[in-house]
Parts: sequence; structure tokens; C-alpha cells
Amino acid sequence: MTLCLGIETSCDETAVALVRDGRLLAQRIATQIGAHALFGGVVPELASREHLRSLRPLTDGLLAEAGVALSDVDLVAVARGPGLLGSLLVGMSFAKGLALSTGAVLVGVNHLWAHLLAPALSERIVFPALGLLVSGGHTQLYRVTSPVEFEVLGRTLDDAAGEAFDKAAKTLNLPYPGGRFIDELSRGAEPDKELFPRPYVNNDNLDFSFSGIKTAMVNHVEANPHLRVEAMSGGVDELKRHLAARGLLDEMAVVCASYNWAVADALRIKVERALAQAGDVRSLVVAGGVAANSMIREAMASVARARGLAAVLPSPALCTDNAAMIALAGEYLYKAGHCHGLDLDAVPRGRRIPWDFRPVEQGGGEAT
Ligand code: KG4
Ligand code: ZN
Repeated sequence: MTLCLGIETSCDETAVALVRDGRLLAQRIATQIGAHALFGGVVPELASREHLRSLRPLTDGLLAEAGVALSDVDLVAVARGPGLLGSLLVGMSFAKGLALSTGAVLVGVNHLWAHLLAPALSERIVFPALGLLVSGGHTQLYRVTSPVEFEVLGRTLDDAAGEAFDKAAKTLNLPYPGGRFIDELSRGAEPDKELFPRPYVNNDNLDFSFSGIKTAMVNHVEANPHLRVEAMSGGVDELKRHLAARGLLDEMAVVCASYNWAVADALRIKVERALAQAGDVRSLVVAGGVAANSMIREAMASVARARGLAAVLPSPALCTDNAAMIALAGEYLYKAGHCHGLDLDAVPRGRRIPWDFRPVEQGGGEAT
């Protein structure tokens, strides 16, 4: 039996979780969305300081809730990238301190792999799987041969799907982060399939590009400035009331549904292409914050159904950043014999994460 403590600080959520043999025991998350909302995006310096402030109390609360002592932890799994460098370093220093003081083994986890493994906390993933990762920072297609074998098949050439949603939402002056608001406003509306072009589909590759569709939204709002809502920070219901009072609810719903459809259909086209090429894949896993999007979930479920594959669509709580997925991915690595020493490096966004594990038997927890 392995008790694994997972730590996630790669962006704007501070999260810790305990996983034992693939089962989540407890988790704590402190979101920083409120702190960054004022600036309309994540402020790296602020994020690091918030992580530093939250980690200790979150971990104390977590251990108390699960009724375990720090000395019971066998493995400390920490997100080592990709992410904001300063934020990653806070989580990693904390993880190293814990490993050093308790003698637990340390393992650095690829945040993107962890997203794709997250659904395994609630259902079985049958391998090999095709993995679509759609988050605020990344959009990638993977062949996942096993929980520790990932091959990138396609990636975004510019913006991530989440950025495409968030920037479009910002153009409309919707609250930050806006993906969820576009999703909510789209519900029940019929998309106008001519309004926005499906981005980067007329080619024969598995890559994505979302900068064009973002510009299409900017142009649409410039031509229709009445669509810009007054800056607001409330929830979806308040937003809908505000739009209804201005007679804008139906028009906004069609604009959001059309944009959402164009993004979802571009993802569908690339996923179908990848499945046609992959041959032996047995399931389709969709992960990352944007996997919470209703139109994307529907599109992916229907793609999988048409091919007789299992569609693995995690619950929204498992889609967004969390530490349960980091602990689970760390446990898979550890059980496959992989860990790290205290010289583990953080890897910021844009740099390749090296395969630099050391074998578990060699005492990964020792400093080098
Ligand atoms: O994976 P995640 O929590 O953070 C990282 O980027 O790692 O993803 C956050 C992204 C944001 O861009 C957010 O707007 C988007 O996921 N998102 C959504 C929805 N819920 C969250 N986008 C579209 N529809 C949603 N329902
Ligand atoms: Zn993430």
C-alpha cells in the first residue's frame, strides 16, 4: 500500500490531495481566481505568493481530514511543469522539504499527463487510448499506451482552446475566466454555422490553431459593439438577467453557441482524423478544464459512440486543475519504478519535459 501526497501549484489553483492505491482519500483546493479576476488574467508574481500562503494550511487541513500523519506519507508527487516557473518552484520546494524531512520518495509529474489520467480516479481507462487535452494553456492530442507512456500526435500552433474561449469572452466583456460563461450562454441556442470559421481544419494534420477564430470574434464585436456587456463580476444568473434586461440574451446566446460550435467541431475533426490513423486505440479520453464544455463533451461522446470506443469524460471537478490527478499520476510512475531526486527541476511552459527519472530502488528521496 502506498500513500501518496499530491501537490499542484502550476498555475492559479493551489491544491493538495492524498491518494492510496488509486483511490482518492481527501483533497483541498484554494482557487486564486478572485485574486486574478481584477487583472483579467493570471498575474505570475501574485500566483507564486498565493501558493506560498496557502500550501501549509491546506496540507495541515488535508492530513487532519484524512486522519493521517505526515510520517505516513510514502510518496510526494508534485507537478513539475509545464506551468508558471515561480509557481512551480513554490510547490516543488514545499514537496522537496517534505520528502527530505520525512524520507518519503519524491516524484515530479508532468501536469499534462496528470490531466489525461485524472478520469482513472472514477472510472477505468482502457489502453491504448487517444487523449485530447484541452486546457487554458494547452491543446494536445496524445497516444497514451499506458499510464506512463505518452506520445504527442498533435498540438496547437498558437493559442490553446481555453485561451480561445477566454479571449473571446474578454472581447465580449464577460467575467473571467470566460469559457464557462460562453458554455452556459450557449445552452439551448442553435449555432449559426456560418458566423465563425472552424479554425485550421482544411489541412491533413493533427495540429490546432485558434488565433484566427479569436480574431473573428474581435471583428464581430467591433461590428456589433452593443454585444459588449458592462464589466461585471457576478455569476451566470446575474449575467443572464443583465442581458435579458437589455434585450440581448438571444443574440448573445447565438453568438456564444456559434463560437463554441466552431471550436468544438474543429476538435472533433482532428480527433476523428487521429482515430482513423491510430487503428488499435480502445478509448477516447478528453481532459483539461475545457473538457467541462457541454458541446465538446457531446461531440466527443458521439465520435466515440460511432467507433464503438469507450468515451472517458471526467466530471467537471476532475477536469480543472487539482492535486488528486498529480497524486494518481505520481503513484503510477512510482509503481512503474520511477522517481526523482532532490535535484528535480521545474519545467516552465514551452520547454520539453525530460525523461529524467531514476529507479525507485536507488533511493530517489536522497539529495544528490
Ligand atoms: O485545466 P485548467 O483548469 O487550467 C489549465 O489551463 O491548466 O483549464 C482552465 C481553462 C480556462 O481557459 C477556462 O475558461 C476553461 O478551462 N473552461 C471552460 C469551461 N470550464 C472551464 N471552457 C469552456 N467551457 C467550459 N465549461
Ligand atoms: Zn491544467
